[in-house]
Amino acid sequence: MALAMFSSVAAAETLLQRGSYLMNGIVACGNCHTPQTQTGPAPGMELAGQFLIDEEGLFKAFAPNITPDKETGIGGWTDQQIIAAIREGKRPDGTIIGPPMPIGLYRGLSDRDVNAVIAYLRQVKPVKNVVEKSTYHIPLPPAYGPPVTNVAEVSQSDKIAYGAYLAGPAGHCIECHTPFVKGHPDFANQLGAGGFPFKGPWGISVSANITPHEDGVADLSDGDLAKVIRTGVRPDGSRLLPPMGVYYYANINDGDMAAIIAYLRQLKPKPTP
Ligand code: HEC
Ligand code: HEC
Repeated sequence: MALAMFSSVAAAETLLQRGSYLMNGIVACGNCHTPQTQTGPAPGMELAGQFLIDEEGLFKAFAPNITPDKETGIGGWTDQQIIAAIREGKRPDGTIIGPPMPIGLYRGLSDRDVNAVIAYLRQVKPVKNVVEKSTYHIPLPPAYGPPVTNVAEVSQSDKIAYGAYLAGPAGHCIECHTPFVKGHPDFANQLGAGGFPFKGPWGISVSANITPHEDGVADLSDGDLAKVIRTGVRPDGSRLLPPMGVYYYANINDGDMAAIIAYLRQLKPKPTP
């Protein structure tokens, strides 16, 4: 009886509940768009934008204010315009959103999840905050692909496929954790092999190998793997550096974590480059 009631509640999850779960968990737009302090997202500044990264000679990227503030945020954009920004990297004025926003993977965000993200964005506190414009010395593509029309849900009952969806289109774990070759993550040959460097106030962190190779997570139990993803603390007590989004991943539920781990376990074992 209790179980039946619980599952009917789960089935009735609203778009906003789904959005809140995703945004404060696996999707974590805030890991880029919310100013980050040493102890996590800055209070009162959710999604208000921040300086992100200076890739010398290539680009200097700022993540814009995406709160509903009409003047400095995206409060004046329609749902369709925000969806086009997320899945196609296109702004209402026709300009293209540059890296490192993972548009290539967001193209695969399901219609339900992208609408859940919109429902969440609409009720975030509007914050007046002017963020500097990014500068790109590399050419941006005219588009990231043809317009995205309909993206179906990936069934949660197919654990590995759902794990691939979470680690890919939803969470872009694989974008940070795959080495770049000629400016693009080498998904075809080195999926999950790590070795990508990130410069920041923390110095340089290098993304870990998350394949089942001995360079990777072969020696971590499922429990330890879940713990390091959720807490950023390795079994030896050492702490992961940013930009691994542990303050968000703490909220990934057990079912989704099991799917992510099942997916990682079946990747091709690859050495760290
Ligand atoms: C890895 C970092 C990163 C992540 C994750 C990310 N973004 Fe962005 N986003 C950026 C950057 C950087 C820009 C600006 C790029 C530029 O200036 O061309 C941007 C631009 C945008 C814009 C355009 C805003 C404007 O005023 O031009 C929107 C809307 C947006 N992001 C929404 C989102 C949403 C929603 C998510 C989560 C689903 C998300 N972003 C995840 C880095 C990120
Ligand atoms: C924005 C980039 C980024 C994203 C997104 C990201 N990671 Fe990471 N991750 C890193 C970096 C960088 C490190 C290494 C930090 C360090 O060594 O201090 C890391 C470390 C890890 C580790 C630690 C492995 C070990 O043994 O040291 C695991 C496991 C991991 N990430 C899994 C994931 C999963 C699963 C996701 C998606 C839910 C994810 N990461 C998303 C950048 C990222």
